[in-house]
Amino acid sequence: MAIARGAAHQDGAWTVAVVGCGIGRGHIEGYKAHPDKFRVTALCDVDEGRLAATGDEFAITRRTVSFDDILRLADIDIVDICTPPALHVTQALAVLVAGKEVVCEKPVAGSLADIDRVIAAEGEAAGRVMPVFQYRFGDGVRKAKHVIDLGLAGTSYLATVETAWRRTPEYYRTMWRGRLQSELGGVLLTHAIHSHDLLTYLMGPVASVFAHTATRINPVEVEDCAVASLVMQSGALASLAATLGSHREISRLRLCFEQVTFESSLAPYSPGDDPWSIIPASPTANDRIGNALAGYRSAQSGFAGLMGAYHEALTTGGALPVTLADARQSLELVTALYHSAATGSLVDLPIGRDHPRYSGWQAA
Ligand SMILES: NC(=O)c1ccc[n+]([C@@H]2O[C@H](COP(=O)([O-])OP(=O)(O)OC[C@H]3O[C@@H](n4cnc5c(N)ncnc54)[C@H](O)[C@@H]3O)[C@@H](O)[C@H]2O)c1
Repeated sequence: MAIARGAAHQDGAWTVAVVGCGIGRGHIEGYKAHPDKFRVTALCDVDEGRLAATGDEFAITRRTVSFDDILRLADIDIVDICTPPALHVTQALAVLVAGKEVVCEKPVAGSLADIDRVIAAEGEAAGRVMPVFQYRFGDGVRKAKHVIDLGLAGTSYLATVETAWRRTPEYYRTMWRGRLQSELGGVLLTHAIHSHDLLTYLMGPVASVFAHTATRINPVEVEDCAVASLVMQSGALASLAATLGSHREISRLRLCFEQVTFESSLAPYSPGDDPWSIIPASPTANDRIGNALAGYRSAQSGFAGLMGAYHEALTTGGALPVTLADARQSLELVTALYHSAATGSLVDLPIGRDHPRYSGWQAA
């Protein structure tokens, strides 16, 4: 149950501490898009240079290199975790124990066992955990979701999902990247996780997977190329392709339903934004979809869209726009993909507690 702590502050805005000044800068921009709803009043990073530069950029004067200092700040409602992946579980659990709300970058955890610990802790805590899947917040995705949820798309047939990005050796100079112990996975976990989340967001859960992975682009421990065939619970089929070796970066989803085909934009880091093509199967489908979308109003995308929806959930106590169940679903898919690639076998979901990779996709 959310407590409307934002209301306790003089201006009614929820107070936020951002931890980690890489993508954390994007989160700050997202909060700043809602100045009446959020105020980022504290910043944490173990890198003092980055901390100072980000604090100066956004005029955030309260800065610390100590995560524990952040937990002790009584006037902070939300701790937003943007640190490297292997720190997320420990930090999220600590924030819940401190009685605050948590925003946590992907991946929330390095195993299904760990995310189940976070889910259990959330059940006991005053605060809740919102994982970050900001690609859902774009006009194209919103319209497709609306049409599908109204039942106008009909039977789902097939989807193709491409994540074709580019990462050079310079990217891996950041020490946590490219290493199994600190990045926890490669292109499937760190990069394609967004588009794969969009797939399940729009086409529902996955029933089985067969995957291949390879490391071909950079000399790293994690995979940087992957392909997979999926059967969705609906019976639809999906094909995933993910690489960090594309010299033109795109993300692309193409979703074929009985009544309509959706084609995303190609924007690599915001494929949910318009322009999406919505291609009806017939004049009748065209009319129905046209009517359903007639009142559609463009809304904020990316982090700004996510934070706007987050505020609504915080103040009303309603469902979070992205939940730990959503994050768990994406990590279950990741677990199945890694298990399939490692064993050369078809893997059925769900992944149970007795599965050899329930406690970590790296160790079977
Ligand atoms: N949602 C997205 O689109 C998106 C984009 C990029 C990264 N990410 C995710 O965000 C996380 C961070 O990625 P990044 O690219 O910003 O990495 P980064 O290395 O650029 O930034 C992480 C920051 O965390 C700091 N840090 C490390 N340990 C810390 C600690 N104990 N306490 C406080 N600060 C600490 C580092 O000094 C660094 O400045 C990763 O999990 C990544 O997968 C998400």
